[in-house]
Amino acid sequence: MKASNHIRLTFPSRSANEGFARIAVAAFASQADPTVEEISEIKTAVSEAVTNSIVHGYKESFGPITITARLYEGGRLTITIKDKGEGIDDIKQAMEPLFTTGNEEERSGMGFTIMETFMDKVKVHSRRGSGTTVALTKYIKARP
Ligand SMILES: Nc1ncnc2c1ncn2[C@@H]1O[C@H](COP(=O)(O)OP(=O)(O)OP(=O)(O)O)[C@@H](O)[C@H]1O
Ligand SMILES: [Mg+2]
Repeated sequence: MKASNHIRLTFPSRSANEGFARIAVAAFASQADPTVEEISEIKTAVSEAVTNSIVHGYKESFGPITITARLYEGGRLTITIKDKGEGIDDIKQAMEPLFTTGNEEERSGMGFTIMETFMDKVKVHSRRGSGTTVALTKYIKARP
């Protein structure tokens, strides 16, 4: 089905942009009349994916992160978060709760688990050396 509306934003992988990204997506999603809880779930999931691109994708470097959000009739919201960073070798393992390649003091290995808890679908495409795309779907229910 054709999206009824969409946005796309590209920004450098600076942690200062993480807050902007999650608020921009939440503002876009708000036209589907989500609950406060749904908005907060969307913000949290976007924040986890963007943080992963900043921390793991580009590690010691910086590069572009592109977010595309689409809204379809009936309240289906899709959000992709794409980086051109180092990519993931084993996606299944990366998505397991508590798995992290990060600094154990700062990272808990729960980012993908949080995304899966708050969104209806989470898909990851990644290739070593060419980057990672995380595709999130959430159905924003119509309210009477
Ligand atoms: N965009 C990405 N690019 C490269 N590797 C990634 C990316 N996103 C996730 N990963 C890999 O997947 C692992 C698991 O990610 P997840 O978000 O679940 O946990 P974490 O980031 O390590 O910890 P937390 O999110 O709890 O701080 C990461 O440690 C990293 O190895
Ligand atoms: Mg993470």
